[in-house]
Amino acid sequence: MLLLALESTCDETAAAVISDTLEVRGAAVATQDELHRRFQGVVPEVASRAHVERILPVIDQALRQAQVTLADIGCVAVANQPGLAGSLLVGLAAAKSLCVALNVPLVAVNHVHAHLYACRLIYGPDVFPSVGLVVSGGHTSLFRCDNGRSFEWLGGTIDDAAGEAFDKVASLLQLGYPGGPLIQRLAEGGDPTAYRFPRSFANEPDRLQFSFSGLKTAVRYAIAGKNAAEVDPSVLSEQQRRDLAASFQAAVIDVLVTKSLHALKATGLKKLCIGGGVAANGVLRQRLQELAQQKRIEIYIAPPNLCTDNAVMGAIAFERLNAGLTESLELDVQAGLMRKK
Ligand code: KG4
Ligand code: ZN
Repeated sequence: MLLLALESTCDETAAAVISDTLEVRGAAVATQDELHRRFQGVVPEVASRAHVERILPVIDQALRQAQVTLADIGCVAVANQPGLAGSLLVGLAAAKSLCVALNVPLVAVNHVHAHLYACRLIYGPDVFPSVGLVVSGGHTSLFRCDNGRSFEWLGGTIDDAAGEAFDKVASLLQLGYPGGPLIQRLAEGGDPTAYRFPRSFANEPDRLQFSFSGLKTAVRYAIAGKNAAEVDPSVLSEQQRRDLAASFQAAVIDVLVTKSLHALKATGLKKLCIGGGVAANGVLRQRLQELAQQKRIEIYIAPPNLCTDNAVMGAIAFERLNAGLTESLELDVQAGLMRKK
């Protein structure tokens, strides 16, 4: 049986065709980076309009790659939460229409859980039970994952998400959007110890929370001083820019690693799964590999193309489908950013 999974929670329109043996037959992603670049962040109205234009071509592309037609699809899955309301609605409307036209069941996908399921898809069922860290533009959350259907929220950010901090600091440095890969590149020639930026809650093992807004402000002060109304990064030398990027990146990574270790300790688990756009960061990945060797823990990081938003991770729908859990056509979206479930 083939599943068609759709993803439109934020600014990527994606579709994938996946078999019930979890084999990915076709996958397509249309990013909207170029549309949001001049605003240095996602503009919801622009995003939902672009989803409308792209969803059908993206579905076509995934089907063509899988060398199948819609008649071969036995189930449609769609990420209906969390995300931008207008964006989610486009995917949901497309999914419902296909279910009616094809007379196949509809399955709802939680986008945040799906980010972690990317690890299950690649490394197999033994990734569970584990602590899951989802670190993306909208989310920085820790979960206890007992299996592909059980995600218990342990804690998350109380303000910005880690990816959002990358994007905002990239904007302060006038680098462009999305900021994560640009900061990573700039940081390559920088000294991560040049600036001592805050690591919120790092010394509080009982507090499974993150905060990145103070870090963002600290970077702002480092560029422009405390009283400046405007931030002009051109006052910095090239080396200072690199040092700032490297020191900022090091602060985010320190916190992500430390809090993951705290969650492992709190739960007694020995496995860690990581997904979401920020998990594509090469320095974070390197740090985690080293950690796995030093501490006796198993670390599973989604491959970079499955870290950023995609529909392949919608394979999590099989967990519900196989348990007989399908949705009615009354299914609605659950918009928002940091949901606990
Ligand atoms: O998972 P994702 O595609 O969308 C959300 O669900 O939010 O994550 C996008 C976020 C952006 O904030 C982007 O700057 C960040 O992931 N990102 C990175 C890297 N690649 C993407 N952050 C740090 N380093 C990267 N290499
Ligand atoms: Zn995401």
